[in-house]
Amino acid sequence: MIKELPKLNYAFDDLEPYIDAQTVEVHYTKHHQTYLDKLTVAITGTSLENLELEDILKSPNSIEENIRTAVLNNGGGVYNHNLFWSVVGPAEGKTPEGELLEKINEGFGSFDTFKEQFTQSALSLFGSGWTWLVQEKDGKLKIINTQNQATPLAEGYKPLLALDVWEHAYYLKYQNRRADYITNWWNVVNWDNVSKKLA
Ligand SMILES: [Fe+2]
Repeated sequence: MIKELPKLNYAFDDLEPYIDAQTVEVHYTKHHQTYLDKLTVAITGTSLENLELEDILKSPNSIEENIRTAVLNNGGGVYNHNLFWSVVGPAEGKTPEGELLEKINEGFGSFDTFKEQFTQSALSLFGSGWTWLVQEKDGKLKIINTQNQATPLAEGYKPLLALDVWEHAYYLKYQNRRADYITNWWNVVNWDNVSKKLA
C-alpha cells in the first residue's frame, strides 16, 4: 500500500493558464492527501495493509464489510487522483499518436469526435464524479462516467485518461463554468503518458 502521494512531475503553476496554481496546490496537497490519510486510517491493522491499492479496488466484495465504504471512497480517491495527475502536464500542443490514435479512430471515428463525446459525457455527469477513457478486456476503448470516487477498476476496465469533474477540481477559477474547465483541460493532457497506459 502506498504511504505517500506520488510526486507531481511538474510545478503547481505549470498547468497555467488552463488550471491555476492555487487549484492544483489545494487539490493535490489537501483533497488528494486527505483521501490518502483517511485510507491509511481505515486499513491500518487490517489484512489490506500489505496489498496493492489497485488489487483491493479491483475486488470490492473482498473488502471486510465494516471498512468497505471507507476503503472504496478514500482508496478510490487516492487511485483516481494518482491517475488524473499522471496524465496532465505543461501544455505542449500535442495530440494522440501511434497505437493510441489508431484505437481512438477505431472506437470513435476521429480524435475530434472522441473529444466531443468525452466532453459531453463530462458535462452530463450529475453531481460529483469522473469521466474516463478506459480500455475494455478485448482492447477496445470506451468513455464512461463514475460517481463520487468509484473507479473503473471495479468494473474490470483499464483506465487510460481521467477527468476530475468534482467542483473542487475547478471551482476557484471557473466557479460553475464546468464547460470552460473541460475545454481548457484538453490543453494540458499529456498524450504520451496516456499512451503508456495502454494494455
Ligand atoms: Fe479531485
